[in-house]
Amino acid sequence: MTTAIPVTRTSHSRLTEELREKSPFGTNYSDHMFVADWHDGEWHDARIVPFGPMSFSPALTAFHYGQALFEGFKAHRTADGRVAIFRPIANHARLNRTAARLAMPELPEPVFREGLLELLRTDREWVPHRDGGSLYIRPVYFGTDDSLMVHAANRYRFVIFTSPGGAYFSQPIRLLAEETYVRAFPGGTGDAKFAGNYAGGLLAAKLAQSRGYHNVMWLDGKERRYIEESGVMNIMFVIKGVAVTPPLSGTILPGVTRDSVLTLLRDMKFPVEERSIPVDEVAAAHAAGTLQEAFGIGTAAIIAPIACIGYQGHDLAIATGAPDSLATRVRAKLVAIQTGREPDTHNWLVYI
Ligand SMILES: Cc1ncc(COP(=O)(O)O)c(C=O)c1O
Repeated sequence: MTTAIPVTRTSHSRLTEELREKSPFGTNYSDHMFVADWHDGEWHDARIVPFGPMSFSPALTAFHYGQALFEGFKAHRTADGRVAIFRPIANHARLNRTAARLAMPELPEPVFREGLLELLRTDREWVPHRDGGSLYIRPVYFGTDDSLMVHAANRYRFVIFTSPGGAYFSQPIRLLAEETYVRAFPGGTGDAKFAGNYAGGLLAAKLAQSRGYHNVMWLDGKERRYIEESGVMNIMFVIKGVAVTPPLSGTILPGVTRDSVLTLLRDMKFPVEERSIPVDEVAAAHAAGTLQEAFGIGTAAIIAPIACIGYQGHDLAIATGAPDSLATRVRAKLVAIQTGREPDTHNWLVYI
């Protein structure tokens, strides 16, 4: 497949300052999307077209047998007026790990990179200018066979579209330790960004919300004893001056933000441990007054301070928002790198 991507521009751009600067997270989409199709063993027809509906057979593989995955990362305006994408190469690598898990073809790096860069150049004006604003980039990749046979599809579609927005959570969040449902189990798909993982988590989130929490805190699938993730984010605690986060054991999503935060903490010489964390340890640290902080970590919110964890009928209240908290400092550092206000010493930014 050639890398010269044809661009069909929309005849009427929807771009307004209001949409670009005021859209809540994930509610409005920019004018164009990148699309490529796979069939007969190859990628075909990479193109930029106006964002809009696509039509499919009701027998679409993704609807029935769930071959569907997505990714999420962001582009920001930098201090010098350019636009930089944060760690797209890491997301491309994760996309291909998920694809392999779902028996889907590999997406070659040039298709991803050229499609992404051409789309962002085409819709560059959609990148918000406001502080905290970003253009969220959503690749989605799915099986498109028109057949009810249960096997890996013979046809696939890959799409990238974008959405202007601000931060995902503004308030500290309340989580409920989930002791009934599980998100993942050894040998399953927990470390893949597989669409079905999210469907499987919605009921628990809905039930937690009906009890006044924002989301669940997932526990391990075997014993419901070890902490895994915070809703759709990774999770970190600060206990006795050490930042602790669950290890990449195959049941949690290897978050790109998690990896970035761990890298920054090591740069800052902040003590870090990647290890299993029993929920009882967190409850005991809370009782002993040594649980200093808890926060979710992910692209959308970056850092989401956790103000409360509901566990076995008790709400463990956790302090948030102190200007010298680790959550505040690490978030500021990450945002400064993403927006070109601090040197990008790890080569995380890709300028368009
Ligand atoms: C289940 C889950 N865990 C963790 C994360 C954090 O990953 P990342 O930092 O790559 O956004 C996400 C996605 O955003 C997620 O969906």
